[in-house]
Amino acid sequence: MAGRIPQSFIDELIARADIVEIIGARIALKKSGREFKACCPFHSEKSPSFWVSPDKQFYHCFGCGAHGTAVGFLMEYEKLSFVEAVEDLAQRAGLELPREARDARNSGANDSRADLHQVMSQAAQFFAQNLSDNARAQAYVHKRGIEPETAKKFALGYATDSWNALLNRFGSQEADRQRLLQAGLIIERERRGNEREGGHYDRFRDRLMFPIRDSRGRVIAFGGRILDQGEPKYLNSPETPLFHKGSELYGLYEARQAHGDFKRLMIVEGYMDVVRLHQAGITYAVATLGTATTQEHLNKIFRLSSEVVFCFDGDRAGRQAAWRALDNALPLARDGRELRFLFLPDGQDPDSLVGAEGMEAFEARLSTAMPLSEYLVQQLLAQTDLEHADGRAKLAALAKPLFTRMPDGVLRELLADRLAAEIRMPASKLKQLLLVGAKPEESPTGSQPMRRSPERMSAGRRNMLSQAISLVLHHPPAAHAVEDPDALSGLDKPGISVLQTLIQQARESKQASTATLLERWRDAPEYERLAELAEEAALVPDVEAAGRELRMAVQKLIETWGPGHRTNELLRKAEELGLNSDEKTELSLLLKSRNQPLPKS
Ligand code: UTP
Ligand code: MN
Repeated sequence: MAGRIPQSFIDELIARADIVEIIGARIALKKSGREFKACCPFHSEKSPSFWVSPDKQFYHCFGCGAHGTAVGFLMEYEKLSFVEAVEDLAQRAGLELPREARDARNSGANDSRADLHQVMSQAAQFFAQNLSDNARAQAYVHKRGIEPETAKKFALGYATDSWNALLNRFGSQEADRQRLLQAGLIIERERRGNEREGGHYDRFRDRLMFPIRDSRGRVIAFGGRILDQGEPKYLNSPETPLFHKGSELYGLYEARQAHGDFKRLMIVEGYMDVVRLHQAGITYAVATLGTATTQEHLNKIFRLSSEVVFCFDGDRAGRQAAWRALDNALPLARDGRELRFLFLPDGQDPDSLVGAEGMEAFEARLSTAMPLSEYLVQQLLAQTDLEHADGRAKLAALAKPLFTRMPDGVLRELLADRLAAEIRMPASKLKQLLLVGAKPEESPTGSQPMRRSPERMSAGRRNMLSQAISLVLHHPPAAHAVEDPDALSGLDKPGISVLQTLIQQARESKQASTATLLERWRDAPEYERLAELAEEAALVPDVEAAGRELRMAVQKLIETWGPGHRTNELLRKAEELGLNSDEKTELSLLLKSRNQPLPKS
């Protein structure tokens, strides 16, 4: 296994590299103010929305949402792995790549991640070997219509019908067993009586194994289908340090290998669907892993394509899943994005259909997919009787929570117009009604679903935590202005540890820049949100101002989120859920005694 690359080396590379030069060598950049722009290389467009910032050493596209550092650009554009991209930069800078056995990103957590990656990769090879050695498993693959080439492309494997095949092969030492356990490949046996240790057994037995790979192609989990009958039919890896079910998509790595540019992505329900669709030539299919489509899934997808088709089985379960997907997709339904729903005939799934009718017939179905707005209206109408006034009122009531979750834009306007016509009410009046009390959704780190252009970004709209994070990201040296970063430890606000860690990282590194900080979070679930904050315009222009603001923000956070006080509890509630009128009165009294104004809700 390749040794790990120390963080300080990556910092050094990013500090030396010039992102403008690296990107400019591949696409034509035009100077515009302090930044450079171009037509985006990651989606097709006629007018430029791809920006490169020499200050942040960061690129981003307002059209498709692609973004990253020089390392990220090389990975995306040249389809390099992380290590390859780093090697490329090192070579350019004339630096030798240190391959240290340990050290890593100076934290034990990363050591163990690398170990887990290695364990998963070994297991995948083991399963693949089992498949080629086992006639019964091969017969099953054949029976399911999977060609050997496809099995190879998806690195399919087989977990033998044994309680300890994997355990015996890789788990001879206690430390090895701990890793297998952490990777979710073995399970701890329950202790019986006064046994000191119950031992372990293989999680996956007699199953066709589907490796789930991350964007760099590393195996991070498995799905396994039982060969014969048995429960459950599909078994997934549990949540592990490498694997978060709610954010991974099966087939995404393979889809990206097949495409430079996606016209669209299609989300289906099953492993088998993805494999058979790809085999038939529909290489833009991905699947969620037995869960509803989450916003994290969709954020990932919308970075690659602005068109998404959800494909569901025609049965009741499929329709329920579709409604859940719609619900999660609403906050992301911005202008310029297309979300559609395709329902298959009852009793069919993409696997069976594409097998029966082939790629062209299947793709022809896509043109019948229903736009999100249409699907939404249709579902609402099905629940109401518009002949009566109370039916029309019910329609408005049903629409309201959905509306408030959508970003402001043409799509929402059109939907309001359409519903207004159904309810027979002036559109302007309905909109007023639908949007009272509407607040854009905020995630813990405060990134909002709306992508703003830099000019439209205003500090006032961000919550305190996001502001603080943004300040550190844009002006890392400002982190030195914080007197006591450790004081943040005690606050029970989601996302606070992100700020604290960023402040630490910025203080520790001599070369900290927006790009070096982001690179530290590349594999973390928070990466996307941080990158979104980084791509917005800086809240303040210079480090000194940033330092002052940051110190104030940290102080405010400590005051608001520190333990104990009723005032804090109410402030917190005001920010998270809103207050009722009694609570508002109480809070304003409390704040008056502190000489602080009531926050704008
Ligand atoms: P389905 O039950 O629809 O099966 O599960 P399928 O995809 O048609 O599978 P085959 O054709 O019988 O092999 C769809 C998806 O739901 C998740 C899996 O991700 C599966 O691919 N699932 C299903 C589970 O996680 N566990 C289960 O027991 C069943
Ligand atoms: Mn099926």
